[in-house]
Amino acid sequence: MSVDKILQDLKNDHNFRTLPHLRHEGKFVYKESKKLLNLASNDYLALSYDEELKEEFLSNLKKEYNYFSSSSSRSLSGNFGIYEELEDYLKADFKDKEILHFNSGYHLNLSCIAALSSLNKTLFLADKLIHASMIDGLRLNGADFFRYKHNDLDHLVSLIQKHYEKYENIIILSEALFSMDGDFSDLKALVELKKNYPKIKLYIDEAHSVGCFDKKGLGFAKSLGLENEIDFLVFTFGKAVASMGACMICAKKYKDFFINKARAFIYSTALPPINVAFTLFIFKNMAKFQNKRENLYHLSQFLKDKLQEKNLQILGDSYIISLILGDNKKALAIAQILEKGGIFAPAIKEPTVPKNTARIRFSLHAGLDQNDLEQILELL
Ligand SMILES: Cc1ncc(COP(=O)(O)O)c(C=O)c1O
Repeated sequence: MSVDKILQDLKNDHNFRTLPHLRHEGKFVYKESKKLLNLASNDYLALSYDEELKEEFLSNLKKEYNYFSSSSSRSLSGNFGIYEELEDYLKADFKDKEILHFNSGYHLNLSCIAALSSLNKTLFLADKLIHASMIDGLRLNGADFFRYKHNDLDHLVSLIQKHYEKYENIIILSEALFSMDGDFSDLKALVELKKNYPKIKLYIDEAHSVGCFDKKGLGFAKSLGLENEIDFLVFTFGKAVASMGACMICAKKYKDFFINKARAFIYSTALPPINVAFTLFIFKNMAKFQNKRENLYHLSQFLKDKLQEKNLQILGDSYIISLILGDNKKALAIAQILEKGGIFAPAIKEPTVPKNTARIRFSLHAGLDQNDLEQILELL
């Protein structure tokens, strides 16, 4: 198919992506000079525009980390001390685990899953709604995998039973808090499965939960005391942590394996030291953000209750709340109504979400207040 035809088909399906011109100011964005409340970022703790926090970070930044490039991969000269400082800091809270920093969650999932798929007789069982970065990791080296219906443990168990004898390793891929449906995996039940099926390993992505759960913001698994049962735990830093990067939390032998076999780790310039220093600074301050986590929880509950009172079809058990609209055209029309009313919450369409589940995804953050949410409710 030609490029022209592909682009035309996307336009016909109301699914042609363009990049909005935006100017950011606190919790607002300006789009074509119209001021809009930003409900499309993943800045869950509202740290990205906390000017005092940024000032404090910059005024204490060590000269040796004031670099805007690491100028090399970590395997060569790019391994500034700040990488190991961050890894050691996080390791203190994860008994028997090691930490490995990556440039992004996409890099991490793509390359770690691709590396794991090269292991002998390894099968992946993936929740139907896992993020594209994990799917791409499965596809890169042609992994053996099946997808189970979203959060459907019966379906998962039936797949385990069907394939158990043929494989040496069975790796279950899921997210702690799902990015688009805003619901949680049943981590306790997944951990229980390991007792009956010892070949199982759990790979859990906490991209949307790190920062927002546990007193030190160390994620959903940690808040349940299950972190040691998860074989591969993934944090990303571009959302609630208001930075960039990601880390894999796993046993030492797997850290060594990824240093040697995760190609995005080996063949990409490591993130700038200043960026990694900011991630560490945020983690050191995480305990102080408990009031933000609580505020986020109350805001989420309020919006969810009010949307339900309006009999709208919504999904989400926390600060990611999706208003399901079905077809792309309808989702685009509602996004436009919201934008006219001062709210930036673009339509989310396939392939980001399954066909016919186009939606508005409200991504709440701790910098909002009840009036902001009332403004949304008036428009729906
Ligand atoms: C569940 C999940 N995993 C991984 C990623 C990728 O992380 P990053 O934005 O750091 O590449 C995302 C984000 O977009 C995500 O939602």
